[in-house]
Amino acid sequence: MSKRTIVSMPGDGIGQTVLPEAIRVLDAVGFEADYVHADIGWEFWCTQGNPLPQRTLDLLAEHKTGLFGAITSKPKSDADAELAPELRDKGYVYYSPIVAMRQHFNLDICARPCQTFSGNPLNFIRKGVGDTVEEPKVDVVVYRQNTEGLYGGVEWTNPPDQVYEALMTHPKMKNFADSPREELAVSTRIFTKKATERIVRAGFEYAKKFGYKSVTVCEKPNVIRETSGMMLAMGKEIAKEYPGISLWDTNIDAQMMWLTKNPEDYGIIVAGNMFGDIISDGFAGLVGGLGFACSANIGAEVAVFEPTHGSAPKYADYKTPIVNPIAMILSACMMLDHLGETDKATQIRSAIAEVVEEGKVRCYDMMKLRGSPDVVEQGAASTMQMTDAIIERLK
Ligand code: NAI
Ligand code: MG
Repeated sequence: MSKRTIVSMPGDGIGQTVLPEAIRVLDAVGFEADYVHADIGWEFWCTQGNPLPQRTLDLLAEHKTGLFGAITSKPKSDADAELAPELRDKGYVYYSPIVAMRQHFNLDICARPCQTFSGNPLNFIRKGVGDTVEEPKVDVVVYRQNTEGLYGGVEWTNPPDQVYEALMTHPKMKNFADSPREELAVSTRIFTKKATERIVRAGFEYAKKFGYKSVTVCEKPNVIRETSGMMLAMGKEIAKEYPGISLWDTNIDAQMMWLTKNPEDYGIIVAGNMFGDIISDGFAGLVGGLGFACSANIGAEVAVFEPTHGSAPKYADYKTPIVNPIAMILSACMMLDHLGETDKATQIRSAIAEVVEEGKVRCYDMMKLRGSPDVVEQGAASTMQMTDAIIERLK
């Protein structure tokens, strides 16, 4: 097979720490690729007025596969204040480059696995009967619709005439008729049948491929009848094509409560954009949190793999980096799966599992320490030491 080219987008803060570590592991497992660097993030907002330059989009369009670290986003006032003086008042408006990238390439399928590694001190534990303590094994993959819904960006404060008048034709709008228009904020939740079908199908396909027994549609169709209703109806329709895989449906609020009651019962969970974001963070919290949470953004053409965590700026400039690289390395494993290199992905995951189980090498988060420059002196592994330990197990 010809050598692949991967677009490497470290971004800001600890994105620049963890992404090179993932590439070290990919090299060590024998994945043959060239990595081309692409710019993204705060620096390019400040200096060029664009956190996602066209040249980065061009590289992704050309090479199709990207690894992404993290970016820093700041509130509007900071964005305006940090923009280079010569670019001010020229109409530049900051936007989230990762959200824009998902929309540009229609990376509509977001997969977020939340799987327990035995021996991880951060694993969720629960009281059993009597004095027993249980550590349920969680093996959930959340399929989150990544481009629509509440994050679709169709929203207004003080909606314009046409929008206001159209809204006022809805009988329920009479409840808002007394509010002055300029005091109204409206964020829409738009679902399309096409995207809904794609996310539900992606969940079922994954369940079939990896032998999961259930797909849960986690929405709120009893209240949000149109959009959540569409997702559940789609689930029922598609489930017919997958005999042997049960369709469950839960409401997002109840699901958050059941999260700690019986997390081991769930397999694949499919949800819209916002509920998928919420439920995947919830499950990630049961299996180690941000140091372990990985994700894939997959479109018809382009796919980008990234840890769920952000740029953690307070840890970005440590002389010895301390953040856990596992979330980024697991994201690279998802990339390998996507490229059909499942054996290599499995090798890396097994190496991580061995390191975690053995328990000798643990980053500060796994030791439940507060992040500070002296955690390594307190016995925590540095970022590089964790990577080294994983690479050691690959041999
Ligand atoms: P964050 O995820 O960057 O950090 C929150 C805390 O989680 C950190 O202070 C640290 O204690 C812990 N943490 C994160 N990654 C870790 C790792 N690999 N190992 C160990 N501990 C880890 O979220 P925060 O502080 O809310 O945001 C910081 C910046 O990141 C903001 O500018 C935010 O907009 C941005 N952000 C970017 C995301 C992305 O690029 N996809 C996602 C979330 C936030
Ligand atoms: Mg989130």
